[in-house]
Amino acid sequence: MGRIRITGGIPLDGEVRIQGSKNAALPIMAAALLNRGTTVLKGCPRIADVFLMEKILQGLGARTRWRKDTLEICARDLDNCMADRELGEKMRSSIVLMGSLLGRCGEGILPFPGGCVIGARPIDLHLEALERLGAEFKEEKGCLRGKTRGLHGGEIFFPRSSVGATQNAVLGAVCARGTTVIRGGSAEPEVSWLCRFLNQAGGQIRGIGTSCLVIQGVSGLHDTVFQIPPDRIAAGTYVCASAITRGKGILLDPPAGEMGALLSAYEKIGGQYMYKSGKLFLCSQRAFAPLRRLETGIYPGFPTDLQSIFLAALTCARGESLIIENIFEDRFKVVPQLQKMGAQITLDGQAARIRGGRLSGALVKAQELRGGAALVVAGLGAEGETCVENREFIERGYEDISRDLNCLGAKTQKD
Ligand code: EPZ
Repeated sequence: MGRIRITGGIPLDGEVRIQGSKNAALPIMAAALLNRGTTVLKGCPRIADVFLMEKILQGLGARTRWRKDTLEICARDLDNCMADRELGEKMRSSIVLMGSLLGRCGEGILPFPGGCVIGARPIDLHLEALERLGAEFKEEKGCLRGKTRGLHGGEIFFPRSSVGATQNAVLGAVCARGTTVIRGGSAEPEVSWLCRFLNQAGGQIRGIGTSCLVIQGVSGLHDTVFQIPPDRIAAGTYVCASAITRGKGILLDPPAGEMGALLSAYEKIGGQYMYKSGKLFLCSQRAFAPLRRLETGIYPGFPTDLQSIFLAALTCARGESLIIENIFEDRFKVVPQLQKMGAQITLDGQAARIRGGRLSGALVKAQELRGGAALVVAGLGAEGETCVENREFIERGYEDISRDLNCLGAKTQKD
């Protein structure tokens, strides 16, 4: 497995363009199956999870082509409805293909998505929502098989917010017969971007950005060229990188409008920022106060995907901070690795108490995507050199975190 070496103690000061959003691109790629033509996605992030989803689509019969960061998907002729098991098992978000496959083929066979280090990650809300639209599910040889005689509109109520389940429900409803009303749906930006894509491709979805979506089923989608939005989690990662090094930095074309909770927390620890003409100017030279209490929550709350990364930054604050994780049941897995670097963190269930101090470079292991990014950020603030193993986890969501951080003036290298 690859490594990233980081030389700590260099205040960042440079500029970096923000890559396309992983969590917007993946469901939109699945949605391309609903168009019996060609879908063009501009600004698509060249990351491992996108390449994996691309392979799965090819296995279903779609043809794909890259031109720089533009991905073309032609789903005119699908030749089967069963996602490659080995590929699907590598990425639990492949479950979002179910809504599209049921809408396109009336059937879908996917590997059961396992849990991962951040939690059990069940799919009950996905299945219940699609059943409301006329799907039936059963387990066959370790796979999940969904079938329908034709999806129809229905009333869906989510008792708990789920990004993926809302996306699956939207994908099942957009070409169903009749109208679907979704209540209690996730209002995360990545759900809104999927809905915007679908409407641009001929869908009829109202209530975008709210937890109540009204979807008028259409006969099918048409060709479209869509710009994938910038990645708010990658952008937030680089804000934390500026903070921990007490440096500066300019982010080019970040989704600043989707980063309110992160930027508010950044200000609370002493960060200063200005957003002007598509550029986010950061100044962390006055950082670094602790944060008395930070809770993750559904949008527009503080994103769970930035929890580990902000936690890493707080290990260098002047005082004690508290983070509460409300979305996933096990999202402090990175803590023992941070403790190897000298971080003083005490865990108590869903709470992490962080006593700020100094970090020392060490050899640490990434175990999942955002925890891996957190270790890289910690390395920027540590004394000496840090080596993060299992770089492949980080490459699932970041095109090239080393390249991006070096654009911001860091000294990192892959090996
Ligand atoms: C999406 O995962 C993102 N992944 C995650 O980002 C992100 O952390 C998460 O949303 C929350 O914002 C992608 O978009 C590919 P959920 P998803 O369904 O859809 C429970 C990253 O690092 N739940 O909103 O799987 C679930 O266990 C990844 O980029 C059920 O109980 O998240 C969790 O506790 C990590 N039953 C909570 O809901 C279900 O059927 C939120 O999960 C589904 C979910």
